[in-house]
Amino acid sequence: MFSHLHYLVLSFILSTLYLAINSYINRRYKILPPGPKGLPLIGNLLDVPKTQEWLTFIEMSRKYDSDIISLNLVGDTVIVLNSLRAVDDLLENKSGIYSDRPPFPMLNDLVGFHWNLGFMRYGPRWKEHRKVFLQQFQPSEVLLHRPVELQAARQLLQRLLDSPDKYERHLRHMAGMIILSTAYGIDVQPEDDPYVDISERAEKAMALTANKGSFLVDSLPFLKYIPEFFPGAGFKKQAREWSKVVEAMPNIPYDFVKKARVDGTARSSIASRALDRIEESSDGDDEERKLVLRNILAVCYSGADTTVSALGSFMLAMTIYPEVQKKAQAAVDEAVGRDRLPDFNDDIPYVDALVREVLRWHPVTPLGIVHAVTENDIYKGYHIPAGAAVIGNAWAILHDETTYGPRTDQFIPERWLTDEGKINRQMRDPSAAFGFGRRICPGRDMAQWSIWIAIASILAVYNISKRLDEKGIPIEPSGEYTSGMVCYPIPHECDILPRSEEARVVIQDAV
Ligand code: HEM
Ligand SMILES: *[C@@H]1O[C@H](CO)[C@@H](O)[C@H](O)[C@H]1NC(C)=O
Ligand SMILES: *[C@@H]1O[C@H](CO)[C@@H](O)[C@H](O)[C@H]1NC(C)=O
Repeated sequence: MFSHLHYLVLSFILSTLYLAINSYINRRYKILPPGPKGLPLIGNLLDVPKTQEWLTFIEMSRKYDSDIISLNLVGDTVIVLNSLRAVDDLLENKSGIYSDRPPFPMLNDLVGFHWNLGFMRYGPRWKEHRKVFLQQFQPSEVLLHRPVELQAARQLLQRLLDSPDKYERHLRHMAGMIILSTAYGIDVQPEDDPYVDISERAEKAMALTANKGSFLVDSLPFLKYIPEFFPGAGFKKQAREWSKVVEAMPNIPYDFVKKARVDGTARSSIASRALDRIEESSDGDDEERKLVLRNILAVCYSGADTTVSALGSFMLAMTIYPEVQKKAQAAVDEAVGRDRLPDFNDDIPYVDALVREVLRWHPVTPLGIVHAVTENDIYKGYHIPAGAAVIGNAWAILHDETTYGPRTDQFIPERWLTDEGKINRQMRDPSAAFGFGRRICPGRDMAQWSIWIAIASILAVYNISKRLDEKGIPIEPSGEYTSGMVCYPIPHECDILPRSEEARVVIQDAV
């Protein structure tokens, strides 16, 4: 008779043997996750469209009946994870090996984003930058930003009164104001601010170059050495244009702070407080610490525009779903009353739900930022080779009806609420919108609060509706978005009008 112990030993041996054989077979035959066949040399380059790749990846998962698929982009292995489960298992639970980035020759070497923590390889340099970033954004610091966020939201309301058709410009201005003021103590100009202009141009370069497969040079790094006049080397000219702004970006506002400190005119900001601390506790490595500080401030500066995309989606949703808007306005009125504007002390669960739904419905970065794996791994019996690029498909995850309930293509804030109208804590939050594992967006708290106060403020006093054409027929927004790493809704025509005369007075008195 076998004792329990024997059973245990036997099953241990068998399962170890099974794992060993399985792993041997996988290594020996290197069975990659399924995916389309592809052509010689270029592999699947033609299977991945230049726009809305995330939808194509979802289709591939259906076709191959696997939530993990693999592609070959001109010799590079790209693994796409199309489910929360796969992302949890790999990017979260094994984040020790899944937190690298591919080398990004276009972005880092040619366009000049090498100072950006978001694109650094996993290692000591990234760790140091991330640590300094988190120090500057610990909760006690984030609280200091609230007055500026509030003021920026209220200025937004006034601008919407003057020129509602330029709402997108006003949203950009608001995001720029928050970041330039909190990070550097810079007051932005009402129009054509040079600092806002720089961040917009850099953001554009980033949006268009960061996705895997956007530029051939990312798969064939030697292409970065071909001369600009060569046929097909247009990307080098483009990169050189962008790099002028991108290389200068970390220095321009930082030099402003340095000068202001010398002149004694510096306002309190992340930069000024951190520089004070560095100089007080001087330990000989000041220059290095200042360089890291300069770099992480510039990441905030270049990352601020992402909130514009989220708020653009909010404007779109309010135009298309008037019933949702009506409920949201009622929720704000109930919490705040109608004679003042919302602030951070107001508890408005419906607005909490709106923020979540905006981030879910049209994720700002549908494919996040691509990760890379540093060691060979095996998942569900498939071989995942060291060095492979790994994409967490945030769109697929946030539109999965098994997680977020029915009709995920529709804007339904109620999916986040309990019957009593409180946030449903059972529901998985939309954190996939902010990426995964050790690389998850460290600015997400600040981003969510800026979005929250802007949404609450707009709802308190404005009514957004479809514009009528000459025949009195409502103009339907196209709902189109730009495509790239960061996606923006293309501004649509709509009417943005004060909800009442009372609201108009509240707006005029704000700030
Ligand atoms: C709605 C607004 C925002 C969204 C949707 C967003 C989304 C993301 C995503 C998807 C990533 C990549 C995570 C990964 O690799 O898995 C990321 C990284 C990052 N974000 Fe954000 N972000 C937003 C706002 C901000 C803001 C306002 C800041 C700065 C204050 C910021 C700073 C960063 C930084 C520094 C990284 C790089 C982290 C790293 O690679 O270690 N983000 N963000
Ligand atoms: C990953 O972690 C989650 C939660 O901690 C757990 O439910 C899941 O089973 C883990 N997956 C693996 C492969 O360990
Ligand atoms: C607000 O807009 C909705 C359409 O989105 C419209 O039905 C309603 O009458 C408007 N309310 C006010 C006060 O203008």
